[in-house]
Amino acid sequence: MTFAIGGDLPVHRLGYGAMQLTGPGIWGPPRDHDEAIRVLRRAVELGVDFIDTADSYGPNVSEELIREALHPYPEGLVIATKAGLTRTGPGQWHPVGRPEYLRQQAELSLRRLGLERIDLFQLHRIDSQVPLADQLGALVELQKDGKIRHIGLSEVSVAQLTEARGYAEIVSVQNLYNVSNRQSEDVLDYAAAEGIGFIPWYPIATGELARPGGPLDALAAQTGATPAQLALAWLLKRSPVMLPIPGTSSVAHLEENLAARTVELTDEQYASLV
Ligand SMILES: NC(=O)c1ccc[n+]([C@@H]2O[C@H](COP(=O)([O-])OP(=O)(O)OC[C@H]3O[C@@H](n4cnc5c(N)ncnc54)[C@H](OP(=O)(O)O)[C@@H]3O)[C@@H](O)[C@H]2O)c1
Repeated sequence: MTFAIGGDLPVHRLGYGAMQLTGPGIWGPPRDHDEAIRVLRRAVELGVDFIDTADSYGPNVSEELIREALHPYPEGLVIATKAGLTRTGPGQWHPVGRPEYLRQQAELSLRRLGLERIDLFQLHRIDSQVPLADQLGALVELQKDGKIRHIGLSEVSVAQLTEARGYAEIVSVQNLYNVSNRQSEDVLDYAAAEGIGFIPWYPIATGELARPGGPLDALAAQTGATPAQLALAWLLKRSPVMLPIPGTSSVAHLEENLAARTVELTDEQYASLV
């Protein structure tokens, strides 16, 4: 079960999102540094070859932990990072898409991650105060300079994605999407039709879908899979361009989530959640 990002970067379709490795409010260091390192190493041991992060997670902390745990990186590991959101405190995020800022952040991510080129660089949010052509122009420049390989977007509408494709080749889009929140259904359908990777963030609704008493309980009792595994298996069956990146700060949850690769929903079980 792989998807080739941009046609030339094949990754297994269950990745890992490294946002939850930071402190509360995605701010500062993790509560348990050693467990964070173990989570990253175990993910790769279990075959994860697609890790999502961002300059703003911590800020810096998530990228620094990835480097500490995994550098020098194994062949084929794709680290996707992002820029375009500044941080002013725990839980606070503000779009900044000025070209010189995006370039600075790419340079700093390269340094923090210990990479010569970033495989997938995502514009974290479109900044409404900066022309989209300028924001993507900065990323295209980085691409020409060999600093980034592919360009992705995050939290965009179909109209924004279509406009962006006029300025750059867009290989992925990362929007909020899970079994209980399908507000981006139209973006997913567009991505699937165009062969663009769709990276659903909050794939288990930031833990809500894993808790007992949720919408997946009945199917969990029927199949023996856990609710978190069902949420992920549902996403994987929903579309071949789907690249879920469940986040966790614990090895136990990581192992549980990755076992969703072996959970196959029947068409009937899948349909019961639609
Ligand atoms: N582009 C964007 O704007 C954007 C926004 C948000 C996130 N993201 C990306 O998407 C990734 C995924 O989002 P997310 O990590 O926030 O949400 P998520 O994957 O839906 O859920 C993660 C949360 O669920 C808990 N959890 C994970 N596995 C569990 C399990 N098996 N049983 C019970 N609880 C479990 C985790 O707590 P524990 O740590 O205790 O396991 C964590 O609090 C992020 O890591 C980040 O890379 C992108």
